[in-house]
Amino acid sequence: MKYETINNLRIPKIGFGTAQLGGRLFASRSRDSFYLSALRSAFELGYTHFDTADFYSFGHAEELIGRAAREANTKRASLFITTKVWPTRLTYKKVLRACENSLRRLQTDYIDSYLIHWPNPFVPLKETFRALNQLAKEGKIKHIGVSNFNVKLLKAAQLLSETPILADQVPYSLTRRPYAKNGLLEYCQQNNILVTAYTPISHGWIAANQTLQSIAEAHHATLHQIALAWLVNQPRVIAIPMSFDPTHQRENLDAADIQLTPSEMEQLNALR
Ligand SMILES: NC(=O)c1ccc[n+]([C@@H]2O[C@H](COP(=O)([O-])OP(=O)(O)OC[C@H]3O[C@@H](n4cnc5c(N)ncnc54)[C@H](OP(=O)(O)O)[C@@H]3O)[C@@H](O)[C@H]2O)c1
Repeated sequence: MKYETINNLRIPKIGFGTAQLGGRLFASRSRDSFYLSALRSAFELGYTHFDTADFYSFGHAEELIGRAAREANTKRASLFITTKVWPTRLTYKKVLRACENSLRRLQTDYIDSYLIHWPNPFVPLKETFRALNQLAKEGKIKHIGVSNFNVKLLKAAQLLSETPILADQVPYSLTRRPYAKNGLLEYCQQNNILVTAYTPISHGWIAANQTLQSIAEAHHATLHQIALAWLVNQPRVIAIPMSFDPTHQRENLDAADIQLTPSEMEQLNALR
C-alpha cells in the first residue's frame, strides 16, 4: 500500500467508502449481516481508512463501522476514521451535538478527520469553525477537513481553522474532473492539503476504451484498478472507493501499488 504523508500523518492512498452501507438514505437493519460481512472482509484485507458520514443511512453506517471495528478487535490507533457533519447541522450547538452522536455511534472517543460534508450558505462558516476548533482543542477530533468546497471556500476555511485543513473531499475520477478543472486540485497540491477523491470509479461504470484497455493489459490489471491507480499516482490525491464485494475490495487495495509510467499518466490525463 502506498501512503500520503502530510502533517506527520501517514494516510493510505486507498480508503474504504461507505455511502451505501446500512441502507443508503434510510437505515435498513434487516441487511446488517450483509453489511457487517462486507466490513469484516475489509478489515481482514487490511483497510485502515474508513470514510463515512452522519448522513449515510441516518447514522447507521457509523454504527456498523463502530460495531465491525470492535468485533475485529482492531487497535483504535491503527485506524483512520473520517466522518462528516451534514449541512443542516452547521450551527455551533448542532455541530457539537452531531459530533457527540457520531462518536457514540462509532464507539470511539475521537474522530481522526471530521469534515463539513457540504457548504451551507445560510450558516456563517465562522460559527461552524468555532465549534470545530473547540472539538479539536478537546481532542474529540484530530483533524478538520471539508468536502465539496471550491478554492474560495477552502481559503475561507483555512483562515478560520486553528489547525491546518487536512483534506477537501470532492468528486474526482477519470470521467468526472470538475475540481481539477476549477483549480482546486492544483491549490491543494501547492498548499499541503489532501484531495480525497470520491466516487473514484464512477459508481463502478468504467467504460472500456483502447487506451484504458491497453494500459490495463500492460499491468495485468482491471479497468477499475487503472482508474484508481491514475488517481493515486497523483501527488496529494487519495481515493475512497466503496465495495461490498471482497474480490473488488482486494482489487481496489492492490490498485494503490500499480506504478503508472509518465506516458501512461499522460494518456489517461488526455481521456475525457
Ligand atoms: N463527500 C461527498 O459528498 C461524497 C459523495 C459521494 C461519495 N462519497 C464517498 O465516496 C465513496 C465512494 O464513492 P461512491 O460510493 O459514490 O462510488 P464508487 O466508489 O465510485 O463506486 C462504487 C460502486 O462501484 C462498484 N465497484 C467497486 N469496486 C469495484 C471494482 N474493483 N470493480 C468493479 N466494480 C467495483 C461497487 O460495487 P460492488 O459493491 O459490487 O463492488 C459499487 O457499486 C462513498 O462510498 C462515500 O464514502 C462522498
